[in-house]
Amino acid sequence: MVIHSTSPMVVVANRLPFVICKNSKTGELTRKYSAGGLVTAVAPVVVETGGLWVGWSGLHLEDGISAIPESSPDDKSPTAGLRSDQVIPVNLPRKQFDDYYNGCCNACFWPLFHSMPDKAVFEEDKWEAYVAVNEEFAKLTMDAVHKCYERQPDQVPLVWIHDYHLMYTANYIRNICNDEGLKVKMAFFLHIPFPSWDIVRLFPWASQLLQGILGCDSVGFHLEDYCINFIDCCHRILGCRVDRKKRLIEHNKRSVSVHPLPISIPYDRFVQMAEEAPEAIKNKNEQQLLLGVDRLDYTKGLVKRFKAFERLLELYPQHIEKVTLLQIAVPSRTDVKEYQELKEELDQIVGRINGRFTTPNWSPIRYIYGSVTHDQLAAFYRDASVALVTPLRDGMNLVAKEFVACQIKEPGVLVLSPFAGAGVTMQEALQVNPYEQNQFAKVIHRALTMPFDERELRMTQLRRREKIRDVNFWLREVLKSVDSLDEACDSKLLR
Ligand code: ADP
Ligand code: F6P
Repeated sequence: MVIHSTSPMVVVANRLPFVICKNSKTGELTRKYSAGGLVTAVAPVVVETGGLWVGWSGLHLEDGISAIPESSPDDKSPTAGLRSDQVIPVNLPRKQFDDYYNGCCNACFWPLFHSMPDKAVFEEDKWEAYVAVNEEFAKLTMDAVHKCYERQPDQVPLVWIHDYHLMYTANYIRNICNDEGLKVKMAFFLHIPFPSWDIVRLFPWASQLLQGILGCDSVGFHLEDYCINFIDCCHRILGCRVDRKKRLIEHNKRSVSVHPLPISIPYDRFVQMAEEAPEAIKNKNEQQLLLGVDRLDYTKGLVKRFKAFERLLELYPQHIEKVTLLQIAVPSRTDVKEYQELKEELDQIVGRINGRFTTPNWSPIRYIYGSVTHDQLAAFYRDASVALVTPLRDGMNLVAKEFVACQIKEPGVLVLSPFAGAGVTMQEALQVNPYEQNQFAKVIHRALTMPFDERELRMTQLRRREKIRDVNFWLREVLKSVDSLDEACDSKLLR
């Protein structure tokens, strides 16, 4: 990856790109990779540019960690090259962190921003914890800004704030910088959808939230649609003057620019992993593998996926003993009730379907509740006949992109929901509406029986686009959008 950034970069995200684990007997600290789209996309960029990363370590103030461990020599994750002196850990009291992360981020913002307001829980004390934690992140970000100025006194650092956990951080940083007479450029990127005005206004503190985001100079979303929603909210909720064509918002005598910046993956790294990974499936000629790889999250549509697979076996019994669904579901947000209930529901559905269809030689569903290594993941992506990427709603979805990157042998088929951001550009995938079971089953059947030529044509086009529009392309676009900000530090108003 060759990235030229004129500004020293400080990434501010809820999580560090790894979790620190403490051995309860020896006290030894080790890193464990944190699965998720943000880490996959951003970690290589920080490694490459020698930037700094401010984020939660996975431990709390009560755990009293003293040092950041270096990565182990056999670490192949995107965080492997990140040195401990590039990391500024955020350690908070357990209760405060729980109210902020589980109470506000996961139980409220996550469902709300995925347009599932019935699942959202609104509680004032959780919002207060969110505000306090965002302020704490801002203070620690200032340590990183000072480090940048010590290293490169002539360069204005870029503070790049990520995701719905930190929508209220920028103004604090702006105020501290003003007090200290320091300049920074500030960009915000949201890794999940930005919903319509009608959903955002359900949040009781929507005005404060929007003003928090507008503390940045530049705001990025995956899709044009999310940009439109954000601009619309600033206009209708805050009464800001906006220029929809130029995507500018006027706020506090500054103008904030808004950019569609669809995130992607380190494509070549996935190709290389697929080339080096050992065989994933033994008797490949007699067996077809349907693959699902997701965090265990209700937005990913796993219940509907399993039910559609069951329907497939009912409608097309020729697939019995021939097709296996391998679902890898990485545990996620296990302290939140919705996630615990989903885990139980999935266990039951898998048990029921396997109980109903299993024969002495075959089980229809192989269900891994856990994460797999990058080698194994690449092997599954490469050897699967069909990938099922069928979320009910998803900001982008990187799994769809990783699958096509790893398809270096017999071309497979990507079945993709239009409710994932990836569905907007990956047009050669087989689209499926995951809400309707019969159609869903028929699309899976079509994918499993698609002739070679059609599979090859679709996959070639998908791979061509993803190779060009990889994570480096995304980063260059982000940096372009931020470079155009040089004058924005001195405020540029709408005419
Ligand atoms: P999200 O950001 O909602 O988790 P994405 O699809 O954008 O969804 O990104 C998920 C990332 O996490 C991908 O890079 C994927 O490889 C990784 N991942 C997801 N599930 C697993 C798993 N079971 N094992 C290993 N990595 C996983
Ligand atoms: O992509 C959305 C996101 O919330 C990322 O910020 C995060 O890396 C990923 O999902 C996993 O979620 P969590 O950090 O809550 O485990």
